[in-house]
Amino acid sequence: MIIDIVTIFPEFFDTFLSTSIIKRAITQQQVNIRLHQIRDYSHHKHHNIDDTPYGGGVGMLMTFPPFYDVIMKLKTEKSIVIYLSPQGKLFNQKMAKKLAQSDHLVLLCGHYEGVDARIEALIDMEVSIGDYVLTGGEIPAMIISDAVTRLLPDVIHEDSAEEDSLQNGWLKFPQYTKPETYKGHNVPELLLSGHHQKIADWRKEQQIRTTFNKRRDLIKGIKMTKEEQIILDKVKNESKNSKD
Ligand code: ADE
Repeated sequence: MIIDIVTIFPEFFDTFLSTSIIKRAITQQQVNIRLHQIRDYSHHKHHNIDDTPYGGGVGMLMTFPPFYDVIMKLKTEKSIVIYLSPQGKLFNQKMAKKLAQSDHLVLLCGHYEGVDARIEALIDMEVSIGDYVLTGGEIPAMIISDAVTRLLPDVIHEDSAEEDSLQNGWLKFPQYTKPETYKGHNVPELLLSGHHQKIADWRKEQQIRTTFNKRRDLIKGIKMTKEEQIILDKVKNESKNSKD
């Protein structure tokens, strides 16, 4: 996959691209992340890319021509062009999975008070990473690149992506590592039993419990199996009885 990131701050990405799993995915050519300085597409002598809004108002807007030119240069029939903005569709794991199927993403980072609205005619999606306003689209571009890259084939262990929080809608089950006991805090006995089926059943139940306790809002979006529904009903009943 190719991810093209258009930004006024390419240096913002230095550590991101040279660390950990993203670095490895780049080295192993599972992803090619390319940075583009939007100022290089400025039509002004001094490389300005912002101006005051028509009709008045506070702040500066990023101008249309540099975005038009860079999009025209990068876009192919396989591209998904994404403008990062707090007004966009909320990013989530389902969107990450969909984007990971594509060959080419173009991520446009906005700044100042936004970008000239004519950009909307050139993009495929406007995406927000959450209901808050950041100073620019660089951190959102990193978040999307990170979430998508780790889903590409062989970037992380496939079973590990399968077991992700949210990958099948449920949050992840709790996990423990050595030591078995520390200052009276013990690892659940069952996990030390070596009984694979019992452990798998316990983990499924824990996923459902954790989701019910921490993120009940996610449950309505989950297509659950009969078995999961039975466990959820049990968890709901327990919760009801403990309140009565
Ligand atoms: N730019 C500024 N805030 C943003 C957000 N929440 N998501 C995506 N891009 C942004």
